[in-house]
Amino acid sequence: MDKLIIEGGVPLEGEIRVSGSKNAALPILMACLLAQGPVELSNVPRLADIHTSLKLLNILGCSCSFEGNRVYSECRNLVPEAPYELVKTMRASVLCLGPLLALLGEARVALPGGCAIGARPVDLHLKALEKMGAEFKLTEGYIKGTCKGRLKGAHITFDFPTVGGTENLLMAASLADGETILENAAREPEVVDLANFLIACGADISGHGTSVITVRGVDSLKGCAYRVMPDRIEAGTYMVAAAITDGELRIMDCPYQELDAVAYKLREMGVWLQEENGYVLVRRENGVLRNVDVTTQPFPGYPTDMQAQLMALMCFGEGAGTVEEKIFENRFMHVLELVRLGADVRLRGRTAMVRGVGKLVGAPVMASDLRASASLVLAGLAAQGATEVQRIYHLDRGYERIEEKLSGVGGRIRRVRA
Ligand code: EPZ
Repeated sequence: MDKLIIEGGVPLEGEIRVSGSKNAALPILMACLLAQGPVELSNVPRLADIHTSLKLLNILGCSCSFEGNRVYSECRNLVPEAPYELVKTMRASVLCLGPLLALLGEARVALPGGCAIGARPVDLHLKALEKMGAEFKLTEGYIKGTCKGRLKGAHITFDFPTVGGTENLLMAASLADGETILENAAREPEVVDLANFLIACGADISGHGTSVITVRGVDSLKGCAYRVMPDRIEAGTYMVAAAITDGELRIMDCPYQELDAVAYKLREMGVWLQEENGYVLVRRENGVLRNVDVTTQPFPGYPTDMQAQLMALMCFGEGAGTVEEKIFENRFMHVLELVRLGADVRLRGRTAMVRGVGKLVGAPVMASDLRASASLVLAGLAAQGATEVQRIYHLDRGYERIEEKLSGVGGRIRRVRA
């Protein structure tokens, strides 16, 4: 397995361009199933999860090609089965459920199983789809869904503003018979990007970005050309990279409007951010960082996908702070690895108490999930000496060319292929 070797202590200086958003591209790729006619997507990041999604689309009957950062897809005679060997590698595969039910009236999707950060069930997806007339059986590790005739528009209230659940229902409702209202819907920018893609294909959606979304079903959707939004979590990760190394970065193509909660917390810690024309400038305000308390929330609150990265930065802040993880039940896998680098973090249930130590010392550490890996890379960039981050296939799921981008701004980081 590949690993990254990072020589820390170099302040990063220069420009980093943000790639397209993984968490917008994944649902949009599944939504391509709904389009009759060719779809051309631009600004698609070259990531492991994107390749997995394209494999899934091929299995389902879509012909796809991926050139540079462009995806071309055209779906004909679809088949309703998403196999386990593929779904187990990427839980977002469950997002083909809504499209398949809307198009074929049936779907067989392997239960995604848990992942490092938690059980991650899909009960809210299924309950909402049942309100639209779908019926489900869970047999032999598969979700088998059927629907007699077309899905029917329904008034749905989610128990929790689930991102994936909102996305599955947006796609299912786009071709349903009648109007669907989604209450307590997720407001994440990636949900809005999916809605905008569906609208570009001819869907009739309003309220996306708020917690009440209305979808009036149409008979068919057409192909279109669409640019995927920039990745706000990648952008936030590089903001932390500037602050943790006490450097200065210009973050290009930065979705700054979608990063209010992150910018607010970084400013509270003593990071200076300035939106200029086409980029966001990030550096420490006056060299000193102060620790804060943070709680992860659904959008527009502080994003869980930026929790591990902020914790790495807090190792260099003065005083103590708390990190409360309220979205996932096990998203502290990075804590013990940061402690190996000298961090002072104590866990109490779903809250981590972080005391700044001012310096970290490089050591071999193990990545466990995507954002935990990112936090270890950030810590390694600021640690004294060499840090070896192992199992970086986790990182390759969500950060396009990370070592190239970081080397381009002075980071001493190289990939060692195992
Ligand atoms: C999406 O996951 C993202 N993934 C995650 O990003 C992100 O952390 C998460 O939203 C929250 O923002 C993609 O978009 C591909 P949820 P998703 O449904 O859709 C529980 C990354 O690092 N829940 O909002 O799975 C669930 O267990 C990844 O890029 C149910 O209980 O998130 C979790 O505790 C990690 N039942 C919470 O809700 C359900 O039916 C949030 O889940 C659905 C969810």
